[in-house]
Amino acid sequence: MIFHVLTIFPEMFHGFLNESILKKAQGNGVIAIHIHDIRDFSEDKHRKVDDTPYGGGAGMIFTPQPLFDCIEHVKKLAPKAPVIYMTPKGIKLTQSRAEKLNTNFDQYILICGHYEGIDQRVIDELVDLEYSIGDYVLSGGEIPAMAMIDVLSRLVPGTLGNDESHREETFSKRLDRKKEYPHYTKPADFRGMKVPDVLLNGHHAEIEKWRRGQLK
Ligand SMILES: C[S@@+](CC[C@H](N)C(=O)[O-])C[C@H]1O[C@@H](n2cnc3c(N)ncnc32)[C@H](O)[C@@H]1O
Repeated sequence: MIFHVLTIFPEMFHGFLNESILKKAQGNGVIAIHIHDIRDFSEDKHRKVDDTPYGGGAGMIFTPQPLFDCIEHVKKLAPKAPVIYMTPKGIKLTQSRAEKLNTNFDQYILICGHYEGIDQRVIDELVDLEYSIGDYVLSGGEIPAMAMIDVLSRLVPGTLGNDESHREETFSKRLDRKKEYPHYTKPADFRGMKVPDVLLNGHHAEIEKWRRGQLK
């Protein structure tokens, strides 16, 4: 799976991409993530990418030129990838929507907005999908893009140590899209708080029945 991320804050991705599961998945060649600095495409001598809104109002808007040039450049690298704008106005990212995206695409172009957002002409001409990570407003699209990369990468075989992990999780089909059962690990008795007996007896059918009963 290949991700192209368009941002004015490439450094924000450094820690995210260089730790834990995503680091390993990139190392194994299971996923690849390319970060593109939108400012590199600005024709302005000060690398400016924003301007005041027509009609007045607070805040700044991403101007179309750097984004058009950046998106057109990246589309040549990933012609089959949908161009996704991360925005609170988009459709809500859910586990089942992520699974659908995963069956349809293996490349993505993710645009991270800032300020008041991006010029509508970019959306009308070049954006295929608009996704929100929840009904709240963040300062920028970087955290939403990271959420998108993380949820999609987990669905790619080879990203997780045990490929079964994501099949039996909260919101997964196998758990009827419900919330997962509680987990316990050693010790069996911690400060008098005991692990349910059923999990200690090694009887798989009983454990399965107990876990099913715990789904919410
Ligand atoms: C301050 S927000 C802009 C909010 C916009 N003026 C509005 O009212 O819808 C700046 C950028 O953060 C990103 N963003 C903020 N909240 C988001 C969310 N819940 N989901 C996805 N992206 C979000 C978008 O890329 C957006 O362009």
